[in-house]
Amino acid sequence: MNKIGIIGAMDEEVHIIKEQMQEVRIRTVAAMDFYEGKLQGKEVVIVRCGIGKVNAAVCTQVLADLYQVDAVINTGVAGSLRNEIDIADIVLSTDTLQHDMDATGFGYGLGIIPRMDCSVFPADKKLVDLAKAVCEEVIPEVGIHTGRIVSGDQFISDGGKKEWLIQNFDGYCTEMEGAAIAQAAYLNQIPFLIIRAISDKADHSAEMAYSEFEGIAIKNTVKLISGLLARL
Ligand code: ADE
Repeated sequence: MNKIGIIGAMDEEVHIIKEQMQEVRIRTVAAMDFYEGKLQGKEVVIVRCGIGKVNAAVCTQVLADLYQVDAVINTGVAGSLRNEIDIADIVLSTDTLQHDMDATGFGYGLGIIPRMDCSVFPADKKLVDLAKAVCEEVIPEVGIHTGRIVSGDQFISDGGKKEWLIQNFDGYCTEMEGAAIAQAAYLNQIPFLIIRAISDKADHSAEMAYSEFEGIAIKNTVKLISGLLARL
């Protein structure tokens, strides 16, 4: 892989990685600043896409069109959907879908995108396996989970909605960009991986927990991304 695109939704999620870059060139497209340069000797383009699926998809398309990236990695935080997945643990995507895609009125299943051949987007297996190995090496104290990540344009902070997500989609964690990045990557035939550190439990405690644990969660993903790039 020659050039890797790295997307975070928020400045907090990408600024530490950006600071470690060398030979940086910045270009602004679609109101997003794309930082092109080197990290761990690898060609990378790092960008904050903004929150939500539309921003995430637009950003991925720019990485495909203007930078011809060979892979897209999305890093950030997420709310846990499983008891055994704790704050600060990491979830690596096996696959991802949009939990707010609902064409059930037309007879489609929940989360199914009408007239598309794919609605559950599989992550690149090699990237998943490598990231898992890197996690075990660089953040051995952190719980690592590999499973489905569900995305929607909603911050989940309600026990009932969390239960609904678990029952309908069997996700490991929930966030607001991953599946849109995955869909755009799929349409452009680019391998992708979503890496999420758990900042909250996606229930009534989510808002408080998020502010308290976001920083710790992000530090773990930064270590993982650096280690991953060094081995790609
Ligand atoms: N990102 C971090 N926590 C989240 C949550 N509970 N819902 C949606 N996105 C999130």
